[in-house]
Amino acid sequence: AAHKITLVPGDGIGPEVTAAVVSILETAGKSEGVTFDWHTYDAGADAFAKTGEYIPKALYDSIEQNRVALKGPVTTPIGGGFSSINVTLRKKFDLYSNFRPVKSLPGLVTKYPGIDMVIFRENTEDLYIGLEVMINPDIAQSLKIITRKGSTRIAKSAFDFARKLGRKKVHAIHKANIMKLSDGLFIKCCKEVAAEYPEITYAEHIVDNTCMQLVMNPYQYDVILTENLYGDILSDLCSGLIGGLGLVPGANLGAECAIFEAVHGSAPDIAGQDKANPTALLQSAVLMLHHIDEPVVAEKVQKALEAVYAEGKTLTRDVGGTSGTKAFADAVIAAL
Ligand code: NAI
Ligand code: MG
Repeated sequence: AAHKITLVPGDGIGPEVTAAVVSILETAGKSEGVTFDWHTYDAGADAFAKTGEYIPKALYDSIEQNRVALKGPVTTPIGGGFSSINVTLRKKFDLYSNFRPVKSLPGLVTKYPGIDMVIFRENTEDLYIGLEVMINPDIAQSLKIITRKGSTRIAKSAFDFARKLGRKKVHAIHKANIMKLSDGLFIKCCKEVAAEYPEITYAEHIVDNTCMQLVMNPYQYDVILTENLYGDILSDLCSGLIGGLGLVPGANLGAECAIFEAVHGSAPDIAGQDKANPTALLQSAVLMLHHIDEPVVAEKVQKALEAVYAEGKTLTRDVGGTSGTKAFADAVIAAL
């Protein structure tokens, strides 16, 4: 089968990790008779320079038609400038569920061996709606919006996943002791959904305590269910448990389309130097392959990736190796 996929290489390390992943997928697909028709678009500052739009209309149209996209990171300016391309795309296509599996790779020595947890981050509301105003030059206001609809559907995603894969525990992470109404509504909805899944243990942890618990004993967590901001922060924290941002993949899922992207950003500190680890985007692509119903190719890629880690000879610098992005990709291709 030929799959039409929208590809956004992004900027910073984006083009490097995307090129690596595309070459691995093409090789893995070939022997299974699976081909990819990549529809490639810029977004962010690069797109603006070329088209005068941060997200070109053609990119929106492409995602609408293909319903699946693989996306590299896009730099978001701090302070002024344009709003996050990532947040805008997630909102535009109502990709309410941000699914981020955090799993140790074989052979990689880290402080916490054998981690296997998943994060479900609400992806369309909370403080990330970007409703901010300066009340006066000395007072800024950001609006946090939490809805019953948004909270219930992310909770359902987490519990459905837990049920389907035989996961035992869901922790709702919140700060309802302080934000009694917004986070209060969030955990109220989580609790209501939890009642429909009696076989799964449900617990609530406050987010600051959760940070400490994750560092002291991450093994107590199985499925983490949380709001947008806490999910963003906890994802980076959890990536650190298994070896860093170079590893953790993600899927932005909605009713109509899905965008697959790594947890990490554009890593300007290492961009253009053949240093980036493409594993996070590659594992995002594996999630994508399952989504487009290509489990055989997905498994092949995952096995080859794990073989390279188990061997441990061709790893990137972020995980203790000395190899570059390209050499790593070549090792995965050789393992295929
Ligand atoms: P970052 O995730 O880009 O980098 C944080 C640290 O992790 C850096 O030291 C970087 O070198 C390292 N790192 C990240 N990915 C890596 C990889 N694949 N291999 C090896 N090392 C890796 O976070 P930062 O620096 O805070 O953000 C940079 C830009 O990325 C910002 O403009 C931010 O808004 C944007 N961003 C975009 C995202 C997206 O497109 N989905 C997500 C997160 C941030
Ligand atoms: Mg983030």
